[in-house]
Amino acid sequence: MDTLKAIAGRSSVRAYTDEQVSAENLNTVLEAGCAAPVGMGQYDKMHITVVQDKGLLSRISATVQQMMQRPGDPLYGAPTLIMISSAEMPMPGLDYADGSCIAENMQLAAMELGLGSVIIWAAGIAANADPELKKDLGIPDGNKAVISIVLGTPAVQPPEKKLGVTIDVNYVR
Ligand SMILES: Cc1cc2nc3c(=O)[nH]c(=O)nc-3n(C[C@H](O)[C@H](O)[C@H](O)COP(=O)(O)O)c2cc1C
Repeated sequence: MDTLKAIAGRSSVRAYTDEQVSAENLNTVLEAGCAAPVGMGQYDKMHITVVQDKGLLSRISATVQQMMQRPGDPLYGAPTLIMISSAEMPMPGLDYADGSCIAENMQLAAMELGLGSVIIWAAGIAANADPELKKDLGIPDGNKAVISIVLGTPAVQPPEKKLGVTIDVNYVR
């Protein structure tokens, strides 16, 4: 039952305070990510990059902003960004599926810890398009960034959602 509560409680947070995520909470979030299912159990093909350096966060933010052509900080002022990258996988799409499972586990753990999070899709695109940025982020050679989240203390608490079957479903019985 607690799991369903956690799932209902997770919402994207798009405003953060300056307070950095504690090392202990960050570790718990990373542990939750590492407990996620990964296709064919190929955990050794996955890599997680934690970015807390303000200069690098600004660089990612500026690149994403340029790509999206939208005003405002696309990282929403969050003090931590976690980027998941993957080596080449034996089947197409496994890298993105694995990254998404890891990201969702981390988001649920963040919620449990009172932290906010949101997926930042274009951060990975920005890193993949800029070899210098990718190198500065320490993403292993040959890896592709697949998904990122930002993490921090919510400036505003998101509303709790009610669970419901809100995506179109067809039943074949
Ligand atoms: C693959 C994926 C990419 C996303 N990219 C972004 C993003 O770049 N920026 C953003 O603010 N939200 C992003 N989101 C968050 C979604 O907009 C959000 O999850 C959705 O609107 C549902 O809202 P909720 O997370 O509050 O339940 C992304 C979500 C997913 C699953």
